[in-house]
Amino acid sequence: MIQHIKTHAIQHNIPIITDDVANILTHVIQTYQLKSVLEIGTATSYSAHVMAQAGAEVWSIERNKERFEIAQAFVEKSHLKHNIHLIYDDALTHACENKTFDLIFIDAAKSQYINFFNKYEQYLHPHGMIVVDNLYFHHLKPSLVKRHTRQLLKKLEKFKEFIQSHQEYESKIMPYGDGVCISVKNIDRFQDLESKIDIFIKNKREH
Ligand SMILES: C[S@@+](CC[C@H](N)C(=O)[O-])C[C@H]1O[C@@H](n2cnc3c(N)ncnc32)[C@H](O)[C@@H]1O
Repeated sequence: MIQHIKTHAIQHNIPIITDDVANILTHVIQTYQLKSVLEIGTATSYSAHVMAQAGAEVWSIERNKERFEIAQAFVEKSHLKHNIHLIYDDALTHACENKTFDLIFIDAAKSQYINFFNKYEQYLHPHGMIVVDNLYFHHLKPSLVKRHTRQLLKKLEKFKEFIQSHQEYESKIMPYGDGVCISVKNIDRFQDLESKIDIFIKNKREH
């Protein structure tokens, strides 16, 4: 099913996480026993399936009706259906159930990353982590793109400043996928996380 969702996404130009990011999410879920995930940006449920396959229970929010319905159809047929809960809503205004998550994965509108982070970090378990995808935005150069894209690049720069100066989180932006940021509060629990991920990805790429 996961491969089928991935192929469908590629054929229909639906953006999904890269293999490296899928491997990182799987690795952190399994290594740190992250049991519950809140995902912002389901698309058609590829990444939700990756994380459920790794052993987590996933709650995932999508505001695009067409994508949500495709995701629903995939999940209904999936052997992981009991571990994926799809929510059709705008994550910016969604009233989140009062529970905590071990992992919050933000993969939605880039212009809203600070808002997503600020709205949802209260739902993070103190020993959990927040992963944000697509921080590089293809390394586009502000001087070579149109105004709208330039605004998005500015917002991503603001997010990077915001996350790196955040008092409560230790964050690393890693060169996987299109730039992936991992933020944790409990540094002791995630000692050497960056180098562990580097070694893990290197091994994965070699095999
Ligand atoms: C990059 S795609 C997600 C890909 C997915 N995580 C995967 O790898 O399979 C981003 C998705 O976020 C959704 N999105 C953007 N802003 C959102 C919001 N405010 N609330 C909910 N979904 C949003 C878009 O409709 C889009 O489907």
